[in-house]
Amino acid sequence: MYTLLQGKRGIIFGALDENSIAWKVALKAKEHGAKFTLTNAPVALRLGAVNALAEQCSTVVIPADATLVDDLEKLIQQSVHHLGGKLDFVLHSIGMSPNVRKGRHYTDLNYEWYQKTLDISAISLHKLLQTLRKHDAMNEWGSIVTLTYIAAQRAFPGYGDMADAKAMLESIVRSFGYYYGVEKKVRINSVSQSPTKTTAGTGIKGFNEFFEFAQSMSPLGNAPADDCANYCIALFSDLTRYVTMQNLYHDGGFSSMGVSELLMQKLTGASDN
Ligand SMILES: NC(=O)c1ccc[n+]([C@@H]2O[C@H](COP(=O)([O-])OP(=O)(O)OC[C@H]3O[C@@H](n4cnc5c(N)ncnc54)[C@H](O)[C@@H]3O)[C@@H](O)[C@H]2O)c1
Repeated sequence: MYTLLQGKRGIIFGALDENSIAWKVALKAKEHGAKFTLTNAPVALRLGAVNALAEQCSTVVIPADATLVDDLEKLIQQSVHHLGGKLDFVLHSIGMSPNVRKGRHYTDLNYEWYQKTLDISAISLHKLLQTLRKHDAMNEWGSIVTLTYIAAQRAFPGYGDMADAKAMLESIVRSFGYYYGVEKKVRINSVSQSPTKTTAGTGIKGFNEFFEFAQSMSPLGNAPADDCANYCIALFSDLTRYVTMQNLYHDGGFSSMGVSELLMQKLTGASDN
């Protein structure tokens, strides 16, 4: 039994149901001895599943829409109060695109929805970081992790305007990571995860094909959500103190591949038919 987060305090954003990456992170963080609060948008909390997770983790759920600075301020103040001190880790596991959800093609975006995509999926990280910093809510050597996808670097038709949001998110990791690092030794990284069967993931058009393609390309296969959670715990721990401003692939090797023999075999089989 490891206790990598013994004595550490944190906030976990984005647990919606038991498939959520954040849900798995919460269970592992608890296992590793951390104390934390859970949060999600009020509309997501109405579904009710998060309360069961809170019970399992002996903690509370504090509603906050991550696009609203007032909500973030209340969340941070209440969390510090509830946990009895400043924070050592924060998980930002948030993503949503109205364009993707409503099937709008990337070449025919609704621009109001586009702004929502960017606000929810990228700018919310900046709002969170700025609010944490203003309230001096992080301990030195604290660690903040957000989740991203390789569509920030490469074109994946179907990922739509989320690709732009992820590129912006990864840029915020670097830009804010500089200031927070210099001032407080706070670390900020993004984890670029394999396709994963969650509510956000399966909302992408052609997700199953995406998933199978990545599975065939990756030497280790797609990285499961549980392993993603382990990686987040490692990044929150003191074992990774000098890792900051990085986009870290957690993808079974996918990002370094050109083509795999398995995929070639599948394509050959398909063209033989
Ligand atoms: N599932 C995948 O294939 C995959 C791959 C790479 C990266 N990611 C990223 O992982 C993160 C978590 O997604 P997931 O796959 O666990 O799916 P998920 O649907 O379980 O989690 C997304 C969360 O974002 C929350 N959210 C949406 N709008 C919000 C708002 N305004 N304020 C606060 N919270 C809000 C949702 O309520 C939900 O809990 C996302 O950033 C996603 O883009 C997912």
